Order: sequence, then C-alpha cells, then structure tokens
Amino acid sequence: MEIAPVSIFHALVPAAGFGARMGHDLPKQYLNLAGQPMIFHALTTLCACEQITTVFVVLSPEDTQFNQYDVSRFGDKLQPLYCGGETRSESVLNGLSAAELEPDDWVLVHDAARPCLTQDHLHKLISKLRDDPVGGLLAVPVADTLKRSDAAGRVLQTESREQLWQAQTPQMFRAGLLAHALQKCPAVTDDASAIEALGLQPKLVACEPTNFKVTYPQDLLLAELLLNERRKHV
Ligand code: CTP
Ligand code: MG
Repeated sequence: MEIAPVSIFHALVPAAGFGARMGHDLPKQYLNLAGQPMIFHALTTLCACEQITTVFVVLSPEDTQFNQYDVSRFGDKLQPLYCGGETRSESVLNGLSAAELEPDDWVLVHDAARPCLTQDHLHKLISKLRDDPVGGLLAVPVADTLKRSDAAGRVLQTESREQLWQAQTPQMFRAGLLAHALQKCPAVTDDASAIEALGLQPKLVACEPTNFKVTYPQDLLLAELLLNERRKHV
C-alpha cells in the first residue's frame, strides 16, 4: 500500500507596504489596533494554528519598526525576512525565494492588513484545499447590487453579481507552483491571479466579510469594534 506524503503548511505574510491609502506616517501594519500593532493580530492567529509549521513575515529591507517589538510570544514559528519588494507580488516572490521551501509544501499567503482572520477560516481553507491539485483562496460572494459608472459618476448600467466573488487571503498554493506563477506574471494584485495566468483555476472557499482588508481609516474603526467584541466572548 502506498503511503500518501505528509502535507507541510507554511504561512507567508507580506508586510512591506506603506499603506498609502491609510494616510499615516507609520505603515498601516504597525498602527495600533485593539491594543496591538495591526500585524500582531494575523500573526497570533497564524502562529496558533497547529497545522502551520512556519510563519514567514516579509518586511521591507528598510523596516526599522518590526524589531522594536517583543515578538517572543510568537515563539520559533515566526521568521522575519527583510526582503520585501516594490509591489505585493514582488514581496511574496522574494519571500518564497528566501524561505527556501520544498516545491510541494503548501504556503498560505496572508495580508498583514487582514487582522480579523480566525482559526475557523484557516481550518476551512486548509481542509477544503489540502487534497486539491491547484489550491485556492478564501473569498466572499458579492452581496450588493453592482453598478458600472461613466466618468461623471452616473450609472451606465447594472452588472450581474451572479458568480462574482471578492477575493480575500489566505491564498493557498504549493510553493513551487506559486513561485513559478509569480515569476511569469508579476503584474498581479493577488496570488491567485498569477496562478490563473498559467491557465489554472484556483478553488474559491467561502469565507465571511469580517475577514476584510484594512485599507482606509474607517476600516480601522470597524476592525477595532470587531476584535474588541470577540475578546468579550473568549
Ligand atoms: N505589501 C507588501 N509589499 C509591497 C506592497 C504591499 O508586502 N510592496 C503588503 C502590505 O504590507 C499588505 C498587503 O501586501 O499587508 C496588502 O497590500 P495593501 O493592502 O495594498 O497594503 P499597502 O500596499 O501597504 O497599502 P496601499 O496600497 O494603500 O499603499
Ligand atoms: Mg498596495
């Protein structure tokens, strides 16, 4: 009887952006959110997940902030890599190269700016995809009615929202395939797009809108409310 190889899972957290749309001097991943730097929330969830072996954090080579924090609570799982690039996809690709993973290892790429990720989200993603030939991503079906506008901000037409999803992270692919895809197609805003450019079809795993990305100042308030509310129930 053939024994199936054991799957290895790593997380890789791109955190080398400036957060221009947040409009702060401090990059948004370090802004205080519910009493901690924003990035700590995602790192806490990823490091607490038993299935994940290593959590790589991709920082800007000029980052002087991260090493000012006490990160001992994350233990040996956490591995900072000072190799961020000009774009998110460059940061992910540089991180994959520096991490020196086995090509068949799974890597869960998660934005530092999605602090409301839960263990349930992670477990669902891993269990739905661990035997998948391609991999995939967390996403939510579009709920609102969609309008296309003209340049003056008036409705041109209403678009069908059928089978439309909003992509989230983590996005989970085999390390070798993802590195190959990002090398071939670097001009993408998420990992799945690079995989799609190879002609493959990542699987969509339904998640919750609460796993949103903190982009604008008002998102910070929403994330704070959510995290504080959850804290009351643990
Ligand atoms: N990211 C990165 N390297 C870059 C750009 C972005 O690692 N050169 C990371 C960000 O730190 C963030 C994630 O990719 O965790 C998602 O990107 P986004 O939300 O767009 O963050 P920023 O690029 O920092 O924000 P903005 O686009 O508003 O400048
Ligand atoms: Mg950006």
